[in-house]
Amino acid sequence: MDRISIVGGQPLHGAIPISGAKNAALPLMIASLLTRDTLILDNVPRLADVSLLQRILNNHGVDVMLNGKRPGDTAYQGQTLHLSAAGIVDTKAPYELVSRMRASFWVIGPLVARMGEAKVSLPGGCAIGTRPVDLHIQALQNLGAEIEVDAGYVIARARNGLRGGEIAFPKVTVGGTHTALMAASLAQGTTVIENAAREPEVADVADCLNKMGAKITGAGTSRIVVEGVPQLSGARHTVLPDRIETGTFAIAVAMTGGDVLLEGGRPELLQTALDVLAQAGAEIAATNAGIRVARNGAGIAPVDVATAPFPGFPTDLQAQFMALMTRANGTSRITETIFENRFMHVQELARLGARIQLDGETATIEGPSRLTGAPVMATDLRASVSLVIAALAAEGETMVHRVYHLDRGFERLEDKLSACGAQISRISG
Ligand code: UD1
Repeated sequence: MDRISIVGGQPLHGAIPISGAKNAALPLMIASLLTRDTLILDNVPRLADVSLLQRILNNHGVDVMLNGKRPGDTAYQGQTLHLSAAGIVDTKAPYELVSRMRASFWVIGPLVARMGEAKVSLPGGCAIGTRPVDLHIQALQNLGAEIEVDAGYVIARARNGLRGGEIAFPKVTVGGTHTALMAASLAQGTTVIENAAREPEVADVADCLNKMGAKITGAGTSRIVVEGVPQLSGARHTVLPDRIETGTFAIAVAMTGGDVLLEGGRPELLQTALDVLAQAGAEIAATNAGIRVARNGAGIAPVDVATAPFPGFPTDLQAQFMALMTRANGTSRITETIFENRFMHVQELARLGARIQLDGETATIEGPSRLTGAPVMATDLRASVSLVIAALAAEGETMVHRVYHLDRGFERLEDKLSACGAQISRISG
């Protein structure tokens, strides 16, 4: 199993190209199930989760063609996927595949909408809390699907097709909103989704669905209206930049000091996080080419944050920000309101010298800690990158084990950081 070795203490200088967003690419790929025509996606990141979803879609009969780097492309320009679901051969998504990536559960919406049935294993994915799928099920029921849960599988049926309905989510759910959007696009009649997730990835998927012929208005707000259409067609769509990758590198620069341009990063996708980083002492500037982040000389100030659905501070940056706060000049509090049990990074950060107390959903971080390198274990995707960030500021060598978690969501993290002066390398085997 690969490991990543990091020797801390180097400031970061240079430019980091931002990849396409994993959390948009995955539902966009799933949207290909809605049409028999070809959906072309540009700027798809090269990630383990993307490859795994290709296999899952293959299993349903989706033909996936991949065009990689062309002459003249920079190493990080994303790949282009051609997805063609002309004939769906299987409406079952088996446990062996779905258990490895939670988002693959989302095939349930398009499959039941187009084929009238779907049998999808209950998901796995990052071990952060219980992460139920009741809201996906409720949304499909409101569109007329009959649902049965049997032997670890959710079976959804709508023999005569779905029909438009009212979906009022009791809690903001990104995945539930994707399911509702995709299913409602092919339902008969109009669907209104209340308390919809406002995440930019939802708006990106809605944009693509509209290019495919869907009639969706209000995506990006908490009230989305979908007028169902009988069928969707092919389209070409470019995946938006990854705001979590952007925020992660911004936090890394705030941690180490230095000056880095996050190429292609879009500030409006993570304004709250950038504001918090500015309060912590980073200089942030929007440029035509992306977002410039610097910290020169100034110390890191403690800032209290609570995670919240978009446009709030993203839960997917919580672990990384906690790593930064271990070096702040004072005490900070981080409250996780989205997922229970999303604090697995705390004990690993402690191995590097962090002082963090947990009390329910709040972590109190006493800074500044002198961090020293140690062997640590990646536990989930975002937690593992928080260990990399801490290691960049630690004295001596840190060895991060189980880096397959990182490969699920970060495209060649070690190359991007080492190009900016970090002493980081991957050890294979
Ligand atoms: C997505 C993101 C993930 C991010 C999360 C929150 C992808 C591939 N993943 O995950 O990176 O951390 O949004 O921004 O885009 N819930 C229920 N019942 C449900 C569904 C969700 O109770 O049926 C709860 C969850 O347990 C959680 C909250 O709702 O407490 C939000 O979850 P949700 O927004 O659905 O997260 P995901 O879509 O799984």
